[in-house]
Amino acid sequence: MGGLVIKALLQEGGFAISSKVSSKDNIEIMFHDSDVIIDFSCPLATEAMLRYALANHSHIPIVVGTTGLSNMHHELMEEQSKYAPIFCSPNMSPLVAIFNAVVFFLAKAMNEDFDVEILDSHHGLKKDAPSGTALMLGRTIARARNREFDEVANFIRYGIIEQRKRGEIGFSVQRSGNVVGLHEVSFVGRHEDVKIRHNAHSKEIFAKGAVKAAKWLVKQVCGLYSMDDLIGDTVSQLTRPRG
Ligand SMILES: NC(=O)c1ccc[n+]([C@@H]2O[C@H](COP(=O)([O-])OP(=O)(O)OC[C@H]3O[C@@H](n4cnc5c(N)ncnc54)[C@H](OP(=O)(O)O)[C@@H]3O)[C@@H](O)[C@H]2O)c1
Repeated sequence: MGGLVIKALLQEGGFAISSKVSSKDNIEIMFHDSDVIIDFSCPLATEAMLRYALANHSHIPIVVGTTGLSNMHHELMEEQSKYAPIFCSPNMSPLVAIFNAVVFFLAKAMNEDFDVEILDSHHGLKKDAPSGTALMLGRTIARARNREFDEVANFIRYGIIEQRKRGEIGFSVQRSGNVVGLHEVSFVGRHEDVKIRHNAHSKEIFAKGAVKAAKWLVKQVCGLYSMDDLIGDTVSQLTRPRG
C-alpha cells in the first residue's frame, strides 16, 4: 500500500513526501517534517506510532489504514485525537462507506427473521481475519439491530455446532490468489433474500481514498474521524442548496 499511496500522491500533485517508513526505519522520522502521516503497516507499527505521537504531544494529523487493530489501538487513537485530528478506516474506498450505509438501512428494514452472513474474500498474503471491513459491516448490522456485536458475531463453525441463534451474524473468510477485496452481505429470510456485494478490482482505490482523507483531515480540528465523516461532508456539499 505504501508504494501505491506514493503513486496516488504524485498523481494528485501538490504534495512533497517528507519520509517513507518501513520496518527498517525509525518511526520518529515521520514526525520531523510532516504535515500529515498516512499509515498502512501492521498493528505493532501502528501502536508504536500512536505511542510516539502521544509521548511527544504531536499535533500532526494521522490517517490510519492499517487493519487488525484491537480495542487498545482504538483507545490510543481516542487519546491522541485530543491533540490532533485522527482518521481511521478499515476501508479507504469512499464507495465502501456508502455500501456500509446501505447495509445499515437494510439491517434496519429487515428484522431478525432474516439471517445475516458476511463473506470476506482476499488474497493469500492478508494477515488478519476477518477483514477490518467485514468487522465494520458486522458492527453496523449489530448497531442497526440494537444488539451487542460481541454477543451476536459468530466467527467459528467447525464440528458439531449449535443451531443458529436468532440475530446471529455469521462470518466466512476466504484467502486465495490475488483477490483484492470482496465483501458480500446476505440477508436470508424464509421466503426471500437480499445480497449486496462490493468487489475492489485494484488496491489503488484504497491509496486514492487515503490521499483524499489526508487532504480533508488537515482542515479538521482535533478529533477522531472515519470515512462516514468525509462522505457526509462531501454529500452535504453536493446536496447543499445553491444561490
Ligand atoms: N484501510 C484500507 O483501505 C486498507 C487497504 C489495503 C490494506 N490495508 C491494510 O494496510 C496494512 C498494510 O497492507 P499492505 O498490503 O501494504 O501490507 P504489506 O505489503 O505487508 O506492507 C506492510 C508495510 O508495513 C511496514 N512495516 C511492518 N512492520 C513495521 C514496523 N514495525 N515499523 C514500520 N513499518 C513497518 C512494512 O515494511 P517492510 O517492507 O520493511 O516489511 C511494509 O512496508 C494491512 O493492515 C492491510 O490490511 C488497509
